[in-house]
Amino acid sequence: MAFRWTNTLTQADVTPKSAYLNRRQILAATAGLGAIGLTGTSAMAQDADALEPNTLEEITSYNNFYEFGTGKDDPKNNAHQLDTADWKITIDGMVDKPGEYALVDLMDGLTVEERIYRFRCVEAWSMVIPWNGVELADLLNQAGVQTDAKYVAFETVVQPENMIGVQRGVLDFPYVEGLRLDEAMHPLTIMATGIYGEPIANQNGAPIRLVVPWKYGFKSIKSIVRMTLTDQEPPTSWNKANASEYGFFSNVNPKVSHPRWSQASERRVGGGLFAPRIDTLMFNGYEEEVAGLYEGMDLTVKI
Ligand code: MTE
Repeated sequence: MAFRWTNTLTQADVTPKSAYLNRRQILAATAGLGAIGLTGTSAMAQDADALEPNTLEEITSYNNFYEFGTGKDDPKNNAHQLDTADWKITIDGMVDKPGEYALVDLMDGLTVEERIYRFRCVEAWSMVIPWNGVELADLLNQAGVQTDAKYVAFETVVQPENMIGVQRGVLDFPYVEGLRLDEAMHPLTIMATGIYGEPIANQNGAPIRLVVPWKYGFKSIKSIVRMTLTDQEPPTSWNKANASEYGFFSNVNPKVSHPRWSQASERRVGGGLFAPRIDTLMFNGYEEEVAGLYEGMDLTVKI
């Protein structure tokens, strides 16, 4: 694939957390060397700093997963109840080989890559997360996407007995999401199965969840059990809950405010109480890679 992005690592295997910590230490050391005249290294350190991943603790203890409650620590406290054994995903609709696939079979032969992505919630907080996963395109192609398909509809598992948020009916479950087919097939779009080289925690959407880094976090649907190829724009949970606030595209856009707050800046989780807010970037910093998908569209209308 000729496609390149600047802020990801390309190694094929998952990397243990210790390697990240080492890398940070090495970068800290090279930044020091820069000060005594080794040009280039300090700039490298700066780039890495800009995308310094949040800690595993932060990533797994401040979550949105309404099936397990609406508080930020509810998913951590309740998601141990999620049953992820023998996970299967139904791929149906406009595909050559519809059916219920075992996750292990779908992943067989695919390369799990490491992608360090910015993650921007519509609530104006953000993190940097080192995901492990596969490109969604590679998963979908196993089922043979037909040429008239235009969208992918996604659905999260519903286990009422295990999910307190489902019992309370805090949203209309199953949680559903959708992407246009070109968005789904874009090489930045991944299905994550790990974080920091460890299997993805239940509260982050085990055993497999979508990650679309240029869109608000709610598009990145967790614990997926169905993907349907269709020629109709699929319904999405937050648009169903509040259509005046949440559109289908939900691209990160600092110039388009949420009706109740600005999207111009964000709070990086873990930055501390007095850390300055940081500017939100168009398409969450992935403009160069994805702006072409939306050429000719008025992004203040198509939200
Ligand atoms: N997927 C499901 N099934 N249920 C949810 O409530 N919340 C979304 C998204 N995916 C959600 C979901 C929202 S609002 C965000 S910001 C991200 O998950 C949070 O992902 P994280 O908890 O891994 O940071």
